[in-house]
Amino acid sequence: MTQTISVTINGKPYTHDVEPRLLLIHYLREVVGLTGSHIGCETSLCGACTVEVDGRAIKSCTMFAVQANGASILTVEGLADASGKMHRVQEGFWNEHGLQCGFCTPGMLMVSKQILDRNPSPTETEIREGLDGNLCRCTGYQHIVKAVQAAAKAGV
Ligand code: FES
Ligand code: FES
Repeated sequence: MTQTISVTINGKPYTHDVEPRLLLIHYLREVVGLTGSHIGCETSLCGACTVEVDGRAIKSCTMFAVQANGASILTVEGLADASGKMHRVQEGFWNEHGLQCGFCTPGMLMVSKQILDRNPSPTETEIREGLDGNLCRCTGYQHIVKAVQAAAKAGV
């Protein structure tokens, strides 16, 4: 049995018939073909699958696709603007070497955007608290914190 869902992803409308048990991350990657969001743990621990749903960063392995019916979703593919200009958090990660293998980066970018959307001038502690649900096995986090600080400095 399937259910029909309609969502907007990165500004484009999509309608699909999906099984009710399909996780949002699998819908995005396997049905829509947006593979920028990664699957690390599938148990809500790592944050690699983080996307925005109606303006809130969520771990898309914790939500069924049918629960997103009617929602507006932003994935890492939608962060740059239409001309290809990178979002300020992408610039920050680029300039401050906020990644090594890059596996965690899509989720880190989405949660960094949310940190700055909620608080344009976060302290280092607030940045670290905001990143708390996202794991990185490579960087030791210092450069990620610097990347968010650089993005905050860059403003909107
Ligand atoms: S894959 Fe979703 S939190 Fe790890
Ligand atoms: S850069 Fe490799 S896991 Fe974060």
